[in-house]
Amino acid sequence: NQKFQFLVGGYGSSKSYHIALKLILKLLEEKRTALVIREVYDTHRESTFSLLQEIVSDLGIDHVVKCRSSPLALTFRNGSSILFKGLDKPEKLKSINNISMIWIEECSEV
Ligand SMILES: Nc1ncnc2c1ncn2[C@@H]1O[C@H](COP(=O)(O)OP(=O)(O)O)[C@@H](O)[C@H]1O
Ligand SMILES: [Mg+2]
Repeated sequence: NQKFQFLVGGYGSSKSYHIALKLILKLLEEKRTALVIREVYDTHRESTFSLLQEIVSDLGIDHVVKCRSSPLALTFRNGSSILFKGLDKPEKLKSINNISMIWIEECSEV
């Protein structure tokens, strides 16, 4: 129920996995738009996007959640979605409608 969660831990301690799974479970429950931020947009594909894609596949919910690769996005059958942006193009962070959750990955970099 916290407004902010700050995950700290060593490499491979499940920070990213934990957040990715939690985000998917929340968006399955409630129609929301979530935003995932990294320092550089292009690094999402092999990290956050890839992880979310893997979890969708592991949960066996490929029919409920579609993973789109250009532009990167996950869209849920209930209207929820996950968008990806990079701080290398901060102007693209403006005017995104209706975001209610933000995951800042590797926030020590930003
Ligand atoms: N609860 C879990 N169940 C299965 N695999 C997990 C779990 N937590 C982490 N992993 C796997 O362990 C690896 C490292 O986790 P990750 O979340 O990337 O760590 P961190 O972000 O803390 O560096 C990833 O490949 C992830 O898929
Ligand atoms: Mg991580």
